[in-house]
Amino acid sequence: MKLPRKIGILTSGGDAPGMNAAIRAVVRASTYYNLESVGIYRGFEGLIEGDFKDLDARSVKNIINRGGTFLKTARSKDFMTVEGRKKAFDNLKKANIDALVVIGGDGTFAGASVFIKEFNFPIVGLPGTIDNDINGTDYSIGYDTALNTVVEAIDKIRDTANSHNRLFLVEVMGRDAGDIALNAGIGAGAEEILIPEQNMGRERLLESLSRSKKSGKTSSIVVISEGDQIGKNIFQLAKYIEENLKEYEVRVTVLGHIQRGGAPSCYDRVLASRLGVGAVDALLRGETNVMIGIIHNRVTSVPFSEAIKGSNEIDEELIRVADIISI
Ligand code: F6P
Repeated sequence: MKLPRKIGILTSGGDAPGMNAAIRAVVRASTYYNLESVGIYRGFEGLIEGDFKDLDARSVKNIINRGGTFLKTARSKDFMTVEGRKKAFDNLKKANIDALVVIGGDGTFAGASVFIKEFNFPIVGLPGTIDNDINGTDYSIGYDTALNTVVEAIDKIRDTANSHNRLFLVEVMGRDAGDIALNAGIGAGAEEILIPEQNMGRERLLESLSRSKKSGKTSSIVVISEGDQIGKNIFQLAKYIEENLKEYEVRVTVLGHIQRGGAPSCYDRVLASRLGVGAVDALLRGETNVMIGIIHNRVTSVPFSEAIKGSNEIDEELIRVADIISI
């Protein structure tokens, strides 16, 4: 197999803090190995439109500390079509790009997998999503920063909850995954944590809140993943609690996209740097159709099919800890 001489890099799907650090690492590792690198703007959209720019070690200066992605990102509908992917392939050939590093989530890897099958084009992926819902890696780039953002926000909400003796329902991101809710919930001392992987049921939530009141708690925080069954309409849930537990005054905070922005944490910068170098190493070993992740603090590669497989698994031990410490 011919090893790559010119590597294209793109970010796709939802942005995540640390994507810039990952791009920087890929570009610098390429330079280190005397390979050329090309930035592709707006993910697969830019690939289809040929929106490319040559990069070198200096083009990625002063970005390790910046949130978002300077290459911009998109959720491309055109890349789901055969015509779109054919255009993308033609543009890669025209620009002499012979391998790709794609940074994103499961949608990105699914698209990349189809492309590899159709055109036998080498692609390596990096997990970049705040949701941490990718198999084959303990952490995805952006997750740690998002957790810190959520905990910081809930710490502030707690001041008001405590001053007014209120119950706050705080909605966090995670369409299909409860990792943010569970970990930030533990870190911020939440009374209850509602996640998509486990349907608690409205009645059990009422029972638990009722017990909290009786045990002497004056204020409470409930953290709810946006994908949770009973929390899907958080305002309705707030109304339901107020109607059934008259002793509670309830307020709702939806944290939304502040969770995706901001300077990456040190952990995310280091993770992104390790994975970025790992991606170039993998391409130079002749690997393709794999995601570079971190397992037990070791950089590893897993097939895309593994990375995007099945539903998110939640650590039962964390659920147990959350139950015990919220007593
Ligand atoms: O996948 C990351 C994520 O932030 C999810 O947690 C959330 O459901 C979704 O993206 C929101 O997507 P968008 O920014 O396109 O509305």
